[in-house]
Amino acid sequence: MSGTIIIGTQFGDEGKGKLIDYLTEESDIVVRFQGGNNAGHTIVVDNDIYKFHLIPSGILYENKTVIIGSGVVIDTKVLCKEIESLEKRGHKINNLYIAGNAHAIMPWHIALDRHEENPRKDKIGTTGRGIGPAYMSKTGRSDSIRMYDFLTDERLSSRIFSILKNNRNYFEMIGFNGNADEIIKEYIAIAKNIRPLIYDAPTFINNELDKGQKVLFEGAQGTFLDIDHGTYPFVTSSNTVASAACAGSGIGPNKITDVLGITKAYMTRVGEGPFPTELDNDTGKKLRDKGKEYGTTTGRSRRCGWLDLVMLNHSKNLNGLTELIITKLDVLSGFNTLKICREYMIDKQNTKQFPGDPYILQNVTPVYQEFAGWNEDISAVKKYDDLPDNTKKYLEFISSYLNLPIKIVSVGPGRKETIVL
Ligand code: GDP
Ligand code: IMO
Ligand code: MG
Repeated sequence: MSGTIIIGTQFGDEGKGKLIDYLTEESDIVVRFQGGNNAGHTIVVDNDIYKFHLIPSGILYENKTVIIGSGVVIDTKVLCKEIESLEKRGHKINNLYIAGNAHAIMPWHIALDRHEENPRKDKIGTTGRGIGPAYMSKTGRSDSIRMYDFLTDERLSSRIFSILKNNRNYFEMIGFNGNADEIIKEYIAIAKNIRPLIYDAPTFINNELDKGQKVLFEGAQGTFLDIDHGTYPFVTSSNTVASAACAGSGIGPNKITDVLGITKAYMTRVGEGPFPTELDNDTGKKLRDKGKEYGTTTGRSRRCGWLDLVMLNHSKNLNGLTELIITKLDVLSGFNTLKICREYMIDKQNTKQFPGDPYILQNVTPVYQEFAGWNEDISAVKKYDDLPDNTKKYLEFISSYLNLPIKIVSVGPGRKETIVL
């Protein structure tokens, strides 16, 4: 039995997709457990680029099982498009399953997300995919549709019909004027496609773990976008921390053997919210250009900044990290000086303690440790020992500050650009 959780330790886009694809080779099953198609996970295999929003990043291995778990909110239209686009590219999709108890994102959720992001309000900068409203319907318990409801046409049409009827005035107010007959027709067609994939995922995953199968739990977003522990309200609407893997796939914590924290060698953030080490200057622009830091889902520019170990240490605790995976280290080649935030100054006092209150976080001053940079292109390096000395010093500082071993260093988007320590 082995359950490995892989999560983003920062604000998302740490390179989870690449690493999940890489680690799938030695696993049997990959499970997404939270979020929805707000995620954008990129995988590069030779000259082919794949961007997955819903389908787990293990899908490229046809002999592995991939599961969209109970805690995910599923836009079934997006799911069908992702399946279709993979099939067009020559992939057989006979290894994908969906948890029956996962909830659906419906068109009114997307309308509400866009209404809430109205320019007259304080924006969160959501991906506009209906994520927050879908989780609101789920926790509200009356007006949500689950994958199990897609199992018969009657059940699905009656759920859609009653939700549209009960909320007619509210939907009009938010600018959603969908026609019931058209929506029902469209979703019955979708249901026919996805029905064979819907099953009791928690029972399956537990049975497989008991048989000794290796399961990877694929996190989406990042720790500081967590609904409880992130920089609220500038967060997503699910728990993104490692423990969500258990609830969101229906397994107990005793099944987990490792928690791998994917960490970009610097930091990025898309959308609004505090970001203490943000570089709103030429250095930030250099990071964005070299790292191609543009959103996988919305194409927005990512805000860039130096690595923040005060945040990362908090992330270690929130997730119970057992090992780190450092990504995009190659992007740091060619800087004379690199900086890592080791403390915050709050009210003229230096501290390593991450402030729980985001209002305080908004006003901290980062205290940096400076490092000499390196100019060598490290993307072809295969062994840790062959990295430049300054690169090793940068990595060793991170590992010793956090008292965590580094398992893998990623030096490029492709599978081969990976150094296992
Ligand atoms: P995710 O959401 O955590 O899966 O990350 P994204 O796919 O949104 O963003 C990460 C981007 O960096 C993608 O374009 C990846 O192809 C790319 N990437 C991943 N690892 C590396 C790396 O080590 N070096 C470089 N240069 N790019 C990487
Ligand atoms: P991956 O899995 C980066 C951000 C949005 C916004 C906030 C809320 O690719 O790392 P939402 O649409 O979830 O209600 O938006 O969360 N966000 C992400 N940022 N990577 C992601 O996913 C994200 N998913 C959501 O930009 O600030
Ligand atoms: Mg992403």
